[in-house]
Amino acid sequence: MGDGKSMGVSISYAEQPKPEGLAQAYHIGAKFIGNSPSCLILGDNFFYGSELGKLLASADSRQQGATIFAYQVADPASYGVLAFDAQNRITSIEEKPAQPKSNWANCGIYFYDGRAVEFAKNLKPSARGELEITDLSRCYMKDHSLHGERFGRGSAWLDTGTAEGLLQAAQFVQTIQTRTGLLIGSPEEVAFRKGWIDAKQLRSLADAIGKNSYAESLRQISAGA
Ligand code: G1P
Repeated sequence: MGDGKSMGVSISYAEQPKPEGLAQAYHIGAKFIGNSPSCLILGDNFFYGSELGKLLASADSRQQGATIFAYQVADPASYGVLAFDAQNRITSIEEKPAQPKSNWANCGIYFYDGRAVEFAKNLKPSARGELEITDLSRCYMKDHSLHGERFGRGSAWLDTGTAEGLLQAAQFVQTIQTRTGLLIGSPEEVAFRKGWIDAKQLRSLADAIGKNSYAESLRQISAGA
């Protein structure tokens, strides 16, 4: 590593840092996404529940507009907050409001149609200096094409963005996995159950992982457990 001068690199100090924020994903990924539909998932979000697969498949099959998800939380002011009318339509979406209109937090999974990159180009940084994903969703709300799905009480949406949240999620997974003997969120198991890989392939994936209990669970599944 060297400094810019000794390496002959010219740095323009007039250049402003680009505003960050979740919607920046649609700037960074603009070429890759183009005008295709996309799904954005936050890396620190954890989802669990038997209705999950159906809800995601239904959002994916929607050709026009956007689908976002909501979950009831005790501290809505920490999130984007959704309000619904009697017909279950989203009437407002506000980022970390001081006075939340509901307890329905906007979860970190978003399905957008092919207009997301275009909408994202016109976003302005918020008061906290970020390109807000909430503002991108709001573009769809103005267009009357924002759909909201509410996760029921049998689902879990956990935020693992803090050490405490990560520990809570780990304990949740440990509790359910230990009790049931079933894995939560195993991509190898999902691929096998969906028929995308066969038992032999599952077994070799397990063997590549080695000797831990996760690999052992995969071996059992490959053997028909
Ligand atoms: C972000 C979004 C917010 C959403 C939350 C979900 O918040 O801005 O609307 O409810 O993710 O995890 P942030 O992580 O930026 O605080």
